[in-house]
Amino acid sequence: MLMNPATKYRAFPPVGLKDRTWPDAMLTQAPIWLSTDLRDGNQALIEPMDPERKLKMFQTLVAIGFKEIEVGFPSASQVDFDFVRLLIKQNHIPDDVTIQVLTPARQALVERTIESLEGIPRAIVHLYNATAPVMRRVVLGLTEDGVVELATTHTKMIRAMTDARPGTQWSLEYSPEMFSGTELGFSKRVVDAVSEAWGATPTRKLIVNLPATVEHSTPNIFADMVEWMHRHLERREAIVLSIHPHNDRGTGTAAGEFALMAGADRIEGCLFGNGERTGNVDVVNIALNLYTQGVHPGLDFSQIDEIRRVVEHCNQLPVHPRHPYVGDLVYTSFSGSHQDAIKKALSARKPDETWDMPYLPIDPKDLGRSYEAVIRVNSQSGKGGISYLLETAYHLELPRRLQIEFSRVVQAVMDDAGKELSAAAIWDIFENEYGLGSGSSRIENANIADSGNGRVTVRADVVDAEGRVTVGGDGNGPLDAFVEGLRAVTGHRVDVLDYHEHAVGGGAQARAAAYLEVRVDNGEPMFGVGIDANIVHASMKAVLSGVMRSTRSRGAKGSLFANVERLAA
Ligand code: KIV
Ligand code: ZN
Repeated sequence: MLMNPATKYRAFPPVGLKDRTWPDAMLTQAPIWLSTDLRDGNQALIEPMDPERKLKMFQTLVAIGFKEIEVGFPSASQVDFDFVRLLIKQNHIPDDVTIQVLTPARQALVERTIESLEGIPRAIVHLYNATAPVMRRVVLGLTEDGVVELATTHTKMIRAMTDARPGTQWSLEYSPEMFSGTELGFSKRVVDAVSEAWGATPTRKLIVNLPATVEHSTPNIFADMVEWMHRHLERREAIVLSIHPHNDRGTGTAAGEFALMAGADRIEGCLFGNGERTGNVDVVNIALNLYTQGVHPGLDFSQIDEIRRVVEHCNQLPVHPRHPYVGDLVYTSFSGSHQDAIKKALSARKPDETWDMPYLPIDPKDLGRSYEAVIRVNSQSGKGGISYLLETAYHLELPRRLQIEFSRVVQAVMDDAGKELSAAAIWDIFENEYGLGSGSSRIENANIADSGNGRVTVRADVVDAEGRVTVGGDGNGPLDAFVEGLRAVTGHRVDVLDYHEHAVGGGAQARAAAYLEVRVDNGEPMFGVGIDANIVHASMKAVLSGVMRSTRSRGAKGSLFANVERLAA
């Protein structure tokens, strides 16, 4: 790179539009959309679409709701010519959809383009020629007058040819190619001449398409250029003002939105931003940005993943995992603080409330995505994500201190494994840590009896792989009595410090989950977890789970009943 890039590059000059209005404009309605996936998008592919892919793309665009679709460059490619013929002959174009085809300003190519459209009820012929100084000088070898002449001659030619075919309802689109790099005064001169040559009137509108063929400037400058044209063009009422942003600086979406705010009525772009070099503007992005402002774009992306699969198949290019709205990872939070906030906001949200969700600009469900991928757990995650996964996948609502305790356990596994953990993997860790698996202790023959004065007696068998122990005690409730029995059998003092329970699932399959914080022999408090169809059994199991963890943490070998005589299970 150069030490002083100014010796090679120059800043794009501002328009100096002092009374611009676009910065305060709000987009309150959808623009007219044109998909150029089958033309600009297709031209940019390593392997252009074959007829099967083209038709699939066309049908997808129709299903999304595009009413104007640029289907190719028939004078430049036999495949495109044949595709236009196929669409017409096989009646693939619905009555409310108009196809558009591109032609350069060259007589033979205009003729071939019109030929491709033979027999079509409606069509837009899209004429372009370069207008920028570098193109006039280096490529066309034409003066400004020469360029105006080129544009108007071919406009009149198209007019004559289309007038001669009254069976079709014809529209003309004119693009001063490289508008973004053309002097504004000259762009206006060419466009005014074309609108006159076409005989544009409010009932016979000309589509004037202003391309940022190459994105040269910050998007505010493009918006100023569009507002200037919007305000200075002759016959504005006879013009549909269109824009065609590319994305060379990575600001195509901003340029497109600002230009719509600046007075454009229509926008051309591709799904997920395919197109020459860095792509055409991403129409999905623009459409869903509108949607998140409460404006329906008139395009349907409610099954966005399905659309992405078709687009990836047709373009043979992957969509980036971080691509706005559609990427695999765009609704996923790995960071603990984000997860915590999302988890809280999701559970606080009431149906029909305005969407106000931290870190999620849109409800993934509106696009056919689920919440499952919203929170994923890796080494950046904290208790929020872990407990969210246990809650959504296994319906366990861990109390806050247990969340903290368990997240340390998960973190230790993560530090060793170093990769993302699925909900199932987290469940395995949870089950193992709190002794919930099939080999863990169960309660049998539990008997609870009122012993008077508000006290109860409990007798229950604790059964595990090593045998059966009967625990019996007296207390002011079943749990208290069971803990007392444990102390009597094992000689260890067990205190219950905290208790939570909730139902898991409903109906005949419902079970209870109990979470108890226990302290054994005045050691560190630890949580235990018990899940059982019977709530009392669940809480007894939770005591055993906490005690088991406590003895294990102190390095004690064997279970709490190690020194207790066991009967066969
Ligand atoms: O980017 C461009 O300038 C074009 C024109 C042909 C409209 O694609
Ligand atoms: Zn383009």
